[in-house]
Amino acid sequence: MYNMSLVSPDINNYQMTSGESLKLGIMASGSGSNFEAVIQAIESGKLNAQIQVLIYNNPDAYAAVRAKKWNIPVVLLNHREFESREQLDHQIVETLKEHDVELVIMAGWMRLVTQVLIDGFPDRIINIHPSLLPSFKGVNAVEQALASGVKITGCTVHLVCLEMDSGKIIMQSAVPILEDDTSESLHARIQQQEHRILPDAIALAFRRNIAFSGHRLSR
Ligand code: GAR
Repeated sequence: MYNMSLVSPDINNYQMTSGESLKLGIMASGSGSNFEAVIQAIESGKLNAQIQVLIYNNPDAYAAVRAKKWNIPVVLLNHREFESREQLDHQIVETLKEHDVELVIMAGWMRLVTQVLIDGFPDRIINIHPSLLPSFKGVNAVEQALASGVKITGCTVHLVCLEMDSGKIIMQSAVPILEDDTSESLHARIQQQEHRILPDAIALAFRRNIAFSGHRLSR
């Protein structure tokens, strides 16, 4: 079925915690169209949140241009300037905490995470990935789906754990693969779904405490 969002049925411990808006930290490596979708959801009142900071790792990432347009603080943490993944993640955690972030959104963050980041925000990091996980993990997920011959792919919003693209699934949307699809045309249709489900999944994770394990993060 096309356009179908699926929520894991075991996630039903609904608990509204607070009317306060959720303080988000966004991490992005590239264009930032998913970041923009989160901004639009906040602006339209669909998502009760505020974006505290954008962390980006590529100096020419267009996500930074989007942030400046919306007066969102930006911090460039160029991974090439760190000696290890752990050192980069230490700086990311420090930056997110300095900006009072409660929930971290990886919106096209193309770096592997370490235990340092997971420990800094346990069960409070969400990622969007352009496939129906657990299929097609890692880079080039759209190309992997095309090459495999599957007829349906899609996108997944999930909690981040140490193992790449493997954390608890929050929401998915299916996208059919058409006869004449290229990776560009398919990725464009997947991104339409990403922009729809990422804000919804953030709201759902918050409302149902998927990301908070039943507790509002103390500041
Ligand atoms: C998105 O399609 C996202 O799913 C993907 O990068 C793109 C970023 O687009 N992420 C991954 O592949 C992570 N493994 P954007 O910068 O326009 O939001």
